[in-house]
Amino acid sequence: MIDAQQIRHYAALSLERLWPRLETILHDEVSAAPADWRAFETRLRREWDRLFDLLFGLYGSHYDFFYHLEELLTATARSWLTRASWLKQLDERRSATPEWFQSQQMVGGMCYVDLFAGTIQGLRERLPLFKKLGLTYLHLMPLFESPEGNSDGGYAISSYRRINSELGTVADLSELAREFQEQGISLVLDFVFNHTSDEHEWARSAQAGDSEYQQFYFLFPDRTIPDRYEQTLREIFPTVRRGSFTWREDIQRWVWTTFNSFQWDLNYANPAVFRAMAEEMLFIANLGVEFLRLDAVAFIWKREGTSCENQPEAHQIIQAFHSLARIAAPALLFKSEAIVHPDDVMSYIGPHECQVSYNPLLMALLWESLATTEVKLLDHSMGHRFRLPAGTAWVNYLRSHDDIGWTFDDNDARWEWIDPVGHRSFLNQFYMGRFPGSFARGVPFQENPDTGDARVSGTLASLAGLEQAIQSGDEQQADLAVRRILMLYSIVLSIGGIPLIYLGDEVGTLNDYTYSTDPDKANDSRWIHRPQVNWTWHRQVEEDISTPHGQIFAELTRLIALRKQQPAIFDGEAEFVETGNGHLLGYVRHGGGQRLFVVASFSSQPQKMNADLLREYGTGYHFIDLITGQAFNTEHALQLEPYQCLWLEQETTTTIS
Ligand code: GLC
Ligand code: GLC
Repeated sequence: MIDAQQIRHYAALSLERLWPRLETILHDEVSAAPADWRAFETRLRREWDRLFDLLFGLYGSHYDFFYHLEELLTATARSWLTRASWLKQLDERRSATPEWFQSQQMVGGMCYVDLFAGTIQGLRERLPLFKKLGLTYLHLMPLFESPEGNSDGGYAISSYRRINSELGTVADLSELAREFQEQGISLVLDFVFNHTSDEHEWARSAQAGDSEYQQFYFLFPDRTIPDRYEQTLREIFPTVRRGSFTWREDIQRWVWTTFNSFQWDLNYANPAVFRAMAEEMLFIANLGVEFLRLDAVAFIWKREGTSCENQPEAHQIIQAFHSLARIAAPALLFKSEAIVHPDDVMSYIGPHECQVSYNPLLMALLWESLATTEVKLLDHSMGHRFRLPAGTAWVNYLRSHDDIGWTFDDNDARWEWIDPVGHRSFLNQFYMGRFPGSFARGVPFQENPDTGDARVSGTLASLAGLEQAIQSGDEQQADLAVRRILMLYSIVLSIGGIPLIYLGDEVGTLNDYTYSTDPDKANDSRWIHRPQVNWTWHRQVEEDISTPHGQIFAELTRLIALRKQQPAIFDGEAEFVETGNGHLLGYVRHGGGQRLFVVASFSSQPQKMNADLLREYGTGYHFIDLITGQAFNTEHALQLEPYQCLWLEQETTTTIS
């Protein structure tokens, strides 16, 4: 066993040997930019012990470790030296205010470039809408080259250096990043690093028999090893293909494909894979990306006899990427996409791993509370799972381009006398509109015939009841649906972290059933919530508050603007408190000299909250609801309308008569 002190000794020795070699290899670039080189050296030396330790732990036993290390550092240095000067300035600004992304000013949006705007140029034309909404973060879903037809919505990448030519060029993308940065909008792109498409040049070389590239993936001549692994693997897309391996006739091999058969898992046990992907990551960073969304983080390391999810090495790999980013692209932040058990989600979050993470637990439990009208599981789970390490933040969302899976901890459920298995099945039935009285219009995603597991697809508005209400011409139901949507948004906008809007939801877009006629989409129900935007309609809605869609847009925009004025939402803590009413979720936020008490009702009936509790949490007698401007005092119980959410602030201007 090598101890920490010895590793540090190895690290120092390695750097002593490597540094002069780097200076020689990069001689011309270094003499052209001595100040940049010094900055690089400072950061490299700062990170070195950590980086070396991680890489040595992962790959130290490989005969060619030192070769890979040198190549990696050379590539990292080159990437820094070619980083655009506007990005280097951004690096400095961000390093000076590392907490910038925890600000209440932050509001995210996400979209597919093709479906939302056609092209990169089209996206530029949407800037006025992004400004109107107050977005400061824009996630463009994968726009890199990918196979024709089914490419899992772009999540099968054939080249990390070229974008889909119908959308524009890499230069257009980089230009957009700069323009949007000037407008205060940070670009977010995916780093789809668990797999490439089977058309990526590495996969093509592997198919052509190149053994070096065959070792980039997991290829097996027969079922012996796949069968052993499959005893403990979860199936991710069981309705598309059973198991996690795909037989390739052309090379007579089984290929590890966790997701679709054309998405080949990369073998990170091979240092060449780590190095190759690190170079792709730095290339993407230098396009002007500020947040890299680490796709499918849970799956990147395989170990026989385990689920091959959330393995310790997955964390080491991400931390090593992180460390390289600190050195060569300091402004870059990592966002984890781990849609797994809440404990595992948490394990990716930290100042040296992913600074931000999707919050699938809050997302799933908001829907859970909406179905049950009760907040007990939400309140209990958030009470001990919302807090994050310093310097990190949640990305809180209601919908994304993916399905909803009922992620919550089984013991949290049992604590509240809820049977987890039965409850998940109820939630599926409810959101698929199969439960009596359900307002939702979702559809099943990946129902597994063996385990009974399923997830749900559908847009925010269709899941919240708007589709059913409009179809049956029921205005009262439509009103309730709008209230549900706005109440959910009022929570993600006030709870802390970065609220993320799946664009289309800002106008209450309904399910689009036409995907089922497209053979490339028909067996993936997630396309029901990925429609092409109709801009004539969208523009009308933006101006017309007589429709539910227009009401959602107008009110959401107003809520966002309101959020931005509340210092209490900056970073910090949400303290979940007992409201004395099972339908009401309550939390207190304080900071920046402000104290906010938020209370949200998940009931379609009027509800009350005891005035004494209000006095306790609000620490005062007179309050103003920032959303409606309505005044409250603690002489009477707090009255909430159906699905109302109040942002209560103590009234400071009250004069006692
Ligand atoms: C992520 C994406 C999802 C995709 C999967 C495989 O989970 O969000 O859309 O299917 O990764 O890349
Ligand atoms: C699985 C993965 C998640 C992905 C989803 C796609 O649940 O854990 O990462 O988003 O599949 O549907």
